[in-house]
Amino acid sequence: PTDLERDLERFTAVVHDYPTPGVVFQDLAGAYRHAGLLRAAGRELARRARGTFNAVVGIEARGFILASVLAADAGVPLVLARKPGKTPGKIQSTTYRSEYSEDQLEIPADALGPQHDVLVIDDVLATGGTLEAARLLVEACGARVSRFGVITQIAALGGASRLAPTPVDALRTVPPPQQ
Ligand code: PRP
Ligand code: MG
Repeated sequence: PTDLERDLERFTAVVHDYPTPGVVFQDLAGAYRHAGLLRAAGRELARRARGTFNAVVGIEARGFILASVLAADAGVPLVLARKPGKTPGKIQSTTYRSEYSEDQLEIPADALGPQHDVLVIDDVLATGGTLEAARLLVEACGARVSRFGVITQIAALGGASRLAPTPVDALRTVPPPQQ
């Protein structure tokens, strides 16, 4: 593993049966408390996606943290995909199911258009329900998703295949692939 992967592993708390029984929660709050690690993660995801995007969509709530540093560093617009009832004006909206909840995402309808190739950012990829909903919203605006970027993907839940053929960059995969 790279230094970045090692640090992300070291500062991620793994919490069993949270928030519901059977879920293995990847708590990245400790990684954000580590000065410099969040920015390094954003830079690495931007490097992997370089040349493919001219806008970032960040997903409320935990995706906002990473998406904002990445978009600021990359110098591209940041569009917020928000939970329901928090986006004024005309919106695109969809309901979706994630690993342990059912929810709704909304984006301002005029924030993206055919001129945008979008890097969609979230903290964790589990089943892929959340990122799939974000892709639907981006496409409803007439834009395209060029890539997805996350800090951690949970391999056993099959999120990346659900999102195919759109590529997914993950800084860590849990459990780690067997050698
Ligand atoms: C978590 C996580 C991802 C999503 C991953 O968000 O931050 O957004 O679940 O699950 P999926 O791949 O199965 O869709 P959560 O809904 O808990 O909300 P939060 O980010 O607002 O805390
Ligand atoms: Mg989330």
